[in-house]
Amino acid sequence: MKTKLGGVNALYPSLTVIVGALVEGRPNFIAVAHVGIMNHGSPQYISMGLGKSHYSNRGIKENGEFSVNLPPESLVAETDYVGIVSGKNVDKSTVFELFYGELPAAPMIKACPVNMECRLERIVDFPTHEVFVGEIVQTYADEEMLTGGKVDVTKVKPLLFDMASVKYYALGPPVAQCWNIGKSMKKK
Ligand SMILES: Cc1cc2nc3c(=O)[nH]c(=O)nc-3n(C[C@H](O)[C@H](O)[C@H](O)COP(=O)(O)O)c2cc1C
Repeated sequence: MKTKLGGVNALYPSLTVIVGALVEGRPNFIAVAHVGIMNHGSPQYISMGLGKSHYSNRGIKENGEFSVNLPPESLVAETDYVGIVSGKNVDKSTVFELFYGELPAAPMIKACPVNMECRLERIVDFPTHEVFVGEIVQTYADEEMLTGGKVDVTKVKPLLFDMASVKYYALGPPVAQCWNIGKSMKKK
């Protein structure tokens, strides 16, 4: 029998990223699990829902730029840290070694194997959250994280976040080949 849970958001696990922005000229980082793919085509737009009270929001609005970094399992403590302290009270600019690409206000994290720099496209206003939609201007990846020139998730070892258990999870083994396994269901 099904049990009603109310309007619980059950879209977990979710990819965990670290978003970087300059706030009043200083790099700040925030852990974000509410990320989305908006326009999967050209241009590429991605989104993230940030609570209105966060310090990061200010910087993204100020400069119209931000970075999205994929932390590996090995950076779980650092990821959690930037997700529990606010730039309002703590200077998070020295937590990571940084680099910059094409956008001067999108600080990126060297230790994260994949980084995207984004230009703010729009902000969608909700009662408690603002959804920042950004265009991916450039993507960077450590060479050893690639297979055949593409980002290999088995090498990146991304962190997944689950709200119900409030735990981080790792990626499991692949289940099947996508856009292929379903062919076995087609009527002959
Ligand atoms: C794993 C994880 C995921 C999080 N995801 C989000 C999120 O998607 N949206 C959000 O607004 N806050 C999220 N947070 C909370 C912020 O990261 C946290 O409040 C942070 O301290 C805000 O930093 P800032 O004030 O310096 O911007 C998350 C925290 C953790 C630990």
